[in-house]
Amino acid sequence: METLMDTQTYNYKVVRQFAIMTVVWGIVGMLVGVIVAAQLFAPSLDLSDVGPWFHFGRLRPLHTNAVIFAFGGCGLMGTSYYVVQRTCNARLFGGWLPAFTFWGWQAVIVAAIVSLPLGYTQAKEYAELEWPIDILIALVWIAYAIVFFGTIAKRKIKHIYVANWFYGGFILAVALLHIVNNLSIPAGFMKSYPVYAGAIDAMVQWWYGHNAVGFFLTAGFLGMMYYFVPKQAGRPVYSYRLSVVHFWALIFTYMWAGSHHLHYTALPDWTQSLGMVLSLILFAPSWGGMINGIMTLSGAWDKLRTDPILKFLIVSLSFYGMSTFEGPMMSIKSVNALSHYTDWTVAHVHAGALGWVGFVTIGSVYYMIPRLFGKNEMYSTKLVEAHFWIATIGVVLYIASMWIAGVLQGLMWGSLNADGTLTYSFVESVKRTMPFYMIRFTGGLLYLSGMCIMAYNVYRTAISGKAVDAEIPAVSQTQHH
Ligand code: HEM
Ligand code: HEM
Repeated sequence: METLMDTQTYNYKVVRQFAIMTVVWGIVGMLVGVIVAAQLFAPSLDLSDVGPWFHFGRLRPLHTNAVIFAFGGCGLMGTSYYVVQRTCNARLFGGWLPAFTFWGWQAVIVAAIVSLPLGYTQAKEYAELEWPIDILIALVWIAYAIVFFGTIAKRKIKHIYVANWFYGGFILAVALLHIVNNLSIPAGFMKSYPVYAGAIDAMVQWWYGHNAVGFFLTAGFLGMMYYFVPKQAGRPVYSYRLSVVHFWALIFTYMWAGSHHLHYTALPDWTQSLGMVLSLILFAPSWGGMINGIMTLSGAWDKLRTDPILKFLIVSLSFYGMSTFEGPMMSIKSVNALSHYTDWTVAHVHAGALGWVGFVTIGSVYYMIPRLFGKNEMYSTKLVEAHFWIATIGVVLYIASMWIAGVLQGLMWGSLNADGTLTYSFVESVKRTMPFYMIRFTGGLLYLSGMCIMAYNVYRTAISGKAVDAEIPAVSQTQHH
């Protein structure tokens, strides 16, 4: 039974839990990223003498799963719970379900941390986890959908704020992607075979993979952007109409672009070209969203000078713009012929991951933490500022070094002598890449140090305040969030 307290306050407990675990899993996932980055120039760090558990091939999926689903996932669930309550003037729906989504999701993460180093994998990128864990993910995700849409259904504000459209689209699409891509026949406790075969399996996998980018790494974070940028800037969204057009165009276009991951493969040629064309079109809604976010600052640009949280949020949008310009370029077949298999792809990934996803999450968590602990601001704004600059230098070192390395590799591998033989052996390109791997490692280390500074700042803010659950304001149709 709901107590009076429950109907008068927001459920901040689950938001606090997710917000703190965002920082914790961020550090864990990035630490593994830094380790695999080091293994690429110091292979003995794979600890082969001890056993196979720390090999690059096992730690790399641990890194991707931890940063995307643990760091990104906790950030998305925590902020969506905060935003949906505050924009609906309603406490989270579902009694114990929000707590189940928190503990269930942590169980998924722990299962990944154990099973990936042990070598259990479906060998599908970003969908490595074996079938028992997939079933748990599906259960948690359905519970998450019930909580989110249940809260929308019981809202006290007629209008559904645009951030909720993006979060809602992300939740529905990820459910669909996860279930379709993981359809498989179990062949033992941690072993299964996909129901698809050959080129169809590859197509389903990259329909999933690209939409993991489009919905997990983009649509949900755009939900964050549409709430926290206007809030932190103290300005309304630049154009509400643009946000609606942006939403439908983005949702429609992403679904068709996955085949750009499979250029020059056994996939029918026309599907590759279709993926390329739809990827080029995707540039427009992506930039529509970026412009909408950045222009929200109109009349408040001066705040950028003094407010490091706003810096995180706005610079995240610049990286979003950068990676969604680069992506369509890389989807052009002739460009992809150069970039595919090289570190250029890794540069593109991390411009999106560190610059866009990382920065918008960090900014949003800095916005929420004081409010969740009854404080006006973070323990130290100076430390937020330091975090911003350290992380920015980290991203730049990471992506610039991988861009150069990638183009270098692409050109060396494609270079032919007059008689048609290769100009360079593969190992020559590996040797030439080494200095860039060291620069990337340094960039990653800086980005990770920034996260450690954040953890300290969050800890000091939390212990100097106390856990509070804000009151739900009296109903008013004009009041938003
Ligand atoms: C300290 C920060 C980080 C470091 C040092 C780092 C390092 C790395 C390394 C070394 C790889 C393997 C590249 C290869 O196979 O050659 C990788 C892959 C990847 N990382 Fe990170 N990473 C970091 C943060 C992140 C974050 C925050 C995200 C996502 C939100 C992310 C997402 C990915 C993805 C998706 C891949 C696979 C890329 C592909 O297959 O092309 N990383 N990372
Ligand atoms: C308009 C938007 C975008 C387009 C058209 C696009 C296009 C592409 C293309 C063509 C590739 C290379 C495929 C290959 O050669 O294998 C790629 C890889 C990738 N992109 Fe994007 N991209 C976009 C935005 C983003 C954003 C914003 C992120 C991250 C937040 C991102 C994350 C990734 C990842 C993780 C991969 C590596 C996949 C893998 O091979 O494991 N992309 N993208």
